[in-house]
Amino acid sequence: MLYQRESEKSIKQTALSAIYKCKREDGILVAEKYMLKRHFQDAKACLREIENFKEICKKRSYPDNVVLYFGTEEKGDFVSIYMELCDGDLEQLAKGGLPECKLTALEICKQATEGIHYLHTKCNMIHRDVKPCNFLIRIDDDGAIIKVCDFGLTKILPSGDTHATTSSNSTLSYMAPEYLQKEDGNDKQWRPSADVFSLGIVFNFTFTRGRHPFGKIDFQQANNILEKKVPDLSFKDCQAFPSMEQKELAYDLIKKMLDFDPRKRPTIEEVKCHPIFWDSKQKVEFYEKANDHFHRLKRDDVECYDQHLGMHNTEYLAILEYSRILNFESRISNLF
Ligand SMILES: Nc1ncnc2c1ncn2[C@@H]1O[C@H](COP(=O)(O)OP(=O)(O)O)[C@@H](O)[C@H]1O
Ligand SMILES: [Mg+2]
Repeated sequence: MLYQRESEKSIKQTALSAIYKCKREDGILVAEKYMLKRHFQDAKACLREIENFKEICKKRSYPDNVVLYFGTEEKGDFVSIYMELCDGDLEQLAKGGLPECKLTALEICKQATEGIHYLHTKCNMIHRDVKPCNFLIRIDDDGAIIKVCDFGLTKILPSGDTHATTSSNSTLSYMAPEYLQKEDGNDKQWRPSADVFSLGIVFNFTFTRGRHPFGKIDFQQANNILEKKVPDLSFKDCQAFPSMEQKELAYDLIKKMLDFDPRKRPTIEEVKCHPIFWDSKQKVEFYEKANDHFHRLKRDDVECYDQHLGMHNTEYLAILEYSRILNFESRISNLF
């Protein structure tokens, strides 16, 4: 395929790349990520993004929430990666630099989760640079869609392994505390839980339209993470939640994602299944089961309630946990 730049003016420039709008020979508009190999400590690092894109493409169905890859061209010292053209990223959206889109903050978080979920569970990859500007947004008449991008630091886990041992230049103010700690000469063991921590910050950023839970200034944020300061999840003056219940659930989920102990963080699968993302059918099922549970408890019918509800143990524990978060027991006691 041949690609022709629409203009020599880039639509975005970072320290390592420039993004141009291009027309493909079939008339489709695409984005070109243009990189100078010499900008990278090691030219291979520049090509790693291409390898990662190709790995994602190997899967049978291409996910909606990962930016589409079209191809690559290498010209001497330069590399161009061609991909689907989007309208901007989540940072620009929060700062009001994009047209209003129909997606709610919750839908944005849900789609961002889907993208990372795909990388973790289908590609065995850790993104390692999860932050608002690495989630693109494409807006059209029917709505908008979120797409994870920038696989320059992404690491493929050797099959069967739960971690990858390497160093990384991930963005400090989004980095999990276990990776911010001073290097002792050894490379770090990267685990998927690092992405979950960073994604928790992205959620908070999205709900609050741009606030970082660890402070206002870049270096302070990284320092506060490193010193394990309590994050500010107060959602003060935040308009993103249609109900108190949603606010409680967002607080619960982000608090868990920002746990300083990586072993206690939810996996991306657990984030995806959190009640904040439930549809109305799942909510009705929960209310029915929780209602049933607390009524049986009241009747002192404790031995058989588990059996009667016919629930799997983990499902049962989840019902108890969510009932606690939503203060369900006292809410239904008030009703009866
Ligand atoms: N496909 C795209 N469509 C529109 N804008 C894009 C696209 N890809 C990247 N961008 C913009 O360019 C920025 C940098 O791209 P990214 O791939 O993250 O490069 P870097 O590795 O330099 O961070 C993104 O944050 C986004 O604003
Ligand atoms: Mg980037």
